[in-house]
Amino acid sequence: MTDTERILSLRAALHEHNRRYYVENAPTISDIEFDRLMHELAHLEALHPELYDANSPTQRVGSDIQTDFQQVPHKYPMLSLGNTYNRDDLSSFYERVSQGLGRQPFDVCCELKFDGLSISLIYEDGCLVRALTRGDGEKGDDVTANVRTISSIPLQLRPDSGYPPSFEVRGEVLMPWESFEALNLQRAAAEEPLFANPRNAASGTLKSKDSRVVRSRHLDAYLYALLGDGIEGSSHYENMQKLRSWGFRVSDDMCRCSTLQEIFAFIDHWDTARHSLPVATDGIVLKVDSIPQQQTLGFTAKSPRWAIAYKFPAARALTRLKDVTFQVGRTGAVTPVAQMEPVQLAGTVVQRASLHNADIIRSLNLHIGDYVYVEKAGEIIPQIVGVEVSRRGENTGAAVCFATHCPECGTPLVRYEGEAAHYCPNDVSCPPQIKGKIEHFVSRDAMNIMGLGTEKIAEYVGSGLLRDASDLYALRTVPCDGYIALVRDDVTAEALHDALFCPLFSAEGDGARLPYVLFTPDSRTGRSLSCDNLLRAIEASRQVPFDRVLLALGIRFVGKVAAKTLAQHFRSMEAIRRASAEELQAVEGIGATIAQSIRSYFARPADAAFVARLADYGLQMSMPERERRGSELAGLSIVVSGTFSHHSRDEYKTLIEAHGGRNVSSISKQTSFVLAGERMGPSKLEKAQRLGIPLMDEAAFLNLLEQGKTPDE
Ligand code: IVH
Repeated sequence: MTDTERILSLRAALHEHNRRYYVENAPTISDIEFDRLMHELAHLEALHPELYDANSPTQRVGSDIQTDFQQVPHKYPMLSLGNTYNRDDLSSFYERVSQGLGRQPFDVCCELKFDGLSISLIYEDGCLVRALTRGDGEKGDDVTANVRTISSIPLQLRPDSGYPPSFEVRGEVLMPWESFEALNLQRAAAEEPLFANPRNAASGTLKSKDSRVVRSRHLDAYLYALLGDGIEGSSHYENMQKLRSWGFRVSDDMCRCSTLQEIFAFIDHWDTARHSLPVATDGIVLKVDSIPQQQTLGFTAKSPRWAIAYKFPAARALTRLKDVTFQVGRTGAVTPVAQMEPVQLAGTVVQRASLHNADIIRSLNLHIGDYVYVEKAGEIIPQIVGVEVSRRGENTGAAVCFATHCPECGTPLVRYEGEAAHYCPNDVSCPPQIKGKIEHFVSRDAMNIMGLGTEKIAEYVGSGLLRDASDLYALRTVPCDGYIALVRDDVTAEALHDALFCPLFSAEGDGARLPYVLFTPDSRTGRSLSCDNLLRAIEASRQVPFDRVLLALGIRFVGKVAAKTLAQHFRSMEAIRRASAEELQAVEGIGATIAQSIRSYFARPADAAFVARLADYGLQMSMPERERRGSELAGLSIVVSGTFSHHSRDEYKTLIEAHGGRNVSSISKQTSFVLAGERMGPSKLEKAQRLGIPLMDEAAFLNLLEQGKTPDE
């Protein structure tokens, strides 16, 4: 078997195993065997870049290159559904349909209404070629690169399963509860704002500019509509069975009903049963099953006359507001938290709710002692949605005012122009800010120092051992009368001994405490495993690449993507420190807010000194020399325009990403060059000429990838 044949057969086999695993929940090989086949394929593909295929199972890993989403018109408009919370409206719908069909009998297909975001998938010859969000219904964002990372969406359909050459499927992209809860736990630990519900999380994720982030968040998808000229079929229900047989994930929980009673029974069942599903649902969708009958009924301007959504009412409870407390986060942002009398709501006891900011408190006109309505409409985090003003009385306290001073350190709070949040500006000595900054510094995406959780950090900061994250690199151990003491390297063994055993003679003077943390050694080895592991993790973090060191600094608004972009562009901390706001903003993806925040960070002596200490401790303060393969286009912003003969436009975009470049949709001063094919649009050509942006033809571009020469070399 040639390598080409082996690649093709591995791809086909892995597509099929993916389907068995993700769509049918019935894998037929072990995870280890799956990984082995995947490795073999990746290895062969690396040897044969000419056989690149964006739909290969290896491409689901995503890429960290930012994508600007292109807006693409929908072939068929993406309408919404009329919806109701009221069962009488369903009877009226049923009656309208019956009347519209001249009293012919009809069936209604009842389905779960999945609570995510709708997606349109286009397949040509069994391959996924494009995925669009709903957008404004007429045109949506091209999120193909992100959708390719969702394991339950087939990239390649089962051969010989009878799919038509060209069709569109629609469905809902979701974040399963399990992924959602894990994501929010992670975000809480990093003090990032939590997603209120899986829908927001799925939508934020699908619009992420980094498809590796999408991959890591484990989205899922259910499909519920088939469209295409000449393939409409006769029944929606049967179309869904066809979709399933071609390899799509279609919900098993749908039912063809021929009476209104059956429809209500379906609703009654799922009103409670839905709580044990792995994904969020917010209602039931009713669709007339026969496609010819759907065509008879037609559409209004906004929605089909043959379908309606029934939404489950939101869980709501009334309870009493006892107090409002204020929490200070890593960035100094102060969040008001409502403390309420415990109340049962959708299966859990609720006693706290975030009030977000001062504006929300004002708009609710909250008073201590108020009876408040708390809702969890599919939202995992309870929200106060209103006040029962009729129950205000003598026992009601004062109107809730936002704190004026930091509850932790007493510093007066500030509110920056254009922002809803209040901040404690004391980032040098406000305890939760110090702890939060260290937590962020050691987090997985940043320095990845394992073994330092929230509690340990609180202990080390509380004891004075860590004054900021740079102190981590000054830690060493000193054996001390049967214990192992973790101290900073400015503490001598003698001083430590005095502090521990003769506090009166300690050079630190009365009451001043020498910072240390004691570990009990293992009686057999005389060492402490947890202490050794911590020091080893700290040591290893000196090799963490520069972009993550930049992220670890915790500069406001500089998240993972911005840190990577800045690191790739400027290549060293020194270059970033020296860059003007204009130079920072000239980088694609870096706006005025980020640029200003970076300038202010390096202008603050305490922050600049912190960075200097990290540099002295040997952390990576610059990017290594460019690697030849795979990053020929690093730092370049490229516009692809026109038609090509060797690869499709989409393939060129993927190639650009694979070689470290960035696709941008419109030409600007920041564009490095235009990959220009045949019939490039005249307005793009004119703009490129006006701005002096070079054009590169297909042959020169392929040569560039092969030789690794950038245009200016
Ligand atoms: S059918 C013409 N079926 O609900 C619209 N939609 O409010 C056809 N949704 O935008 C949509 N589950 O995102 C349909 N089983 C289901 C659904 C469903 C969720 C969403 C969809 C749509 C919204 C309508």
